[in-house]
Amino acid sequence: MTSMDKVDFSDVRWGSVEWTNLCTLYLRSYESHSPAPILGDEAAADAVDRIDYDWARMRRHMRPAFNQYLVAMRAKQIDDWSADFLSRHPDAVILHLGCGMDARASRLHPPATVQWFDVDQPNVIALRRRLYDDRAGYRTIGSSVTDEAWLDDIPTDHPMLMVAEGLLMYLTEPDVRALLQRLTDRFGSGELVFDTLSPLGPRLSKMFTKGIVKWGIRDAREMERWNPRLRLLDRGAVGARFERIPSKPVRLLWRLVNATPVRNFDVLNRFAF
Ligand SMILES: C[S@@+](CC[C@H](N)C(=O)[O-])C[C@H]1O[C@@H](n2cnc3c(N)ncnc32)[C@H](O)[C@@H]1O
Repeated sequence: MTSMDKVDFSDVRWGSVEWTNLCTLYLRSYESHSPAPILGDEAAADAVDRIDYDWARMRRHMRPAFNQYLVAMRAKQIDDWSADFLSRHPDAVILHLGCGMDARASRLHPPATVQWFDVDQPNVIALRRRLYDDRAGYRTIGSSVTDEAWLDDIPTDHPMLMVAEGLLMYLTEPDVRALLQRLTDRFGSGELVFDTLSPLGPRLSKMFTKGIVKWGIRDAREMERWNPRLRLLDRGAVGARFERIPSKPVRLLWRLVNATPVRNFDVLNRFAF
């Protein structure tokens, strides 16, 4: 496929769970045009150029001048934790769950010895394959992460990193528990990197986004009690890097967010097992 081909995504229903990956893609693309980007995801900008979608409506809806930084700060912290894992485990298996259109594998340039799997719902992976090809060491899997069968194809004799950015809140709590249990049952060791919303997330979603957000947790350390193999290594508010925001008024706004309990609305977590 050449970069000139336009790919039609008009069948992604506005407001659906699948649509949320176009929101984050759009925000990463927008942020890549910032004079001093935090993430600088040029692959996202390239993807938005190639996808035929109502981006003007997306721009009105997403308020990118503010929200671009949320997504950029979140993705950057997750990239840094992932890069750190890759530097310690160059033979790792990476499970990038709810990948949407995110080109994290290209941003991180994993060594050829890494086996990377991008997993999302079958319809999202079908769209993704219109943009990106599978290659040596990189495969896409179209399945709900709540199904068990997709894991049967994954080699389990390597250290494993699960990355789930903007995913677990769309699952129910029993599904989150079962997914993490399946991973720790199958793999000898690894790390799990994901963000969690506070319990306010599903409540707000009932009012504003038709209940697509299903799960929130006040303190992710509680997950150590769900599964005794899990150890919380690190966590932080999604806006922790606000000092790097180039726009002064937006930086100020994030400084305020970080000075209040609102900072705990979306939290980044890193667990080991
Ligand atoms: C907010 S988007 C995030 C996409 C990507 N991680 C990013 O940061 O751009 C949420 C993604 O989770 C996917 N998703 C939601 N429920 C899922 C499930 N049960 N199995 C697999 N993927 C799921 C959606 O299809 C969507 O691509």
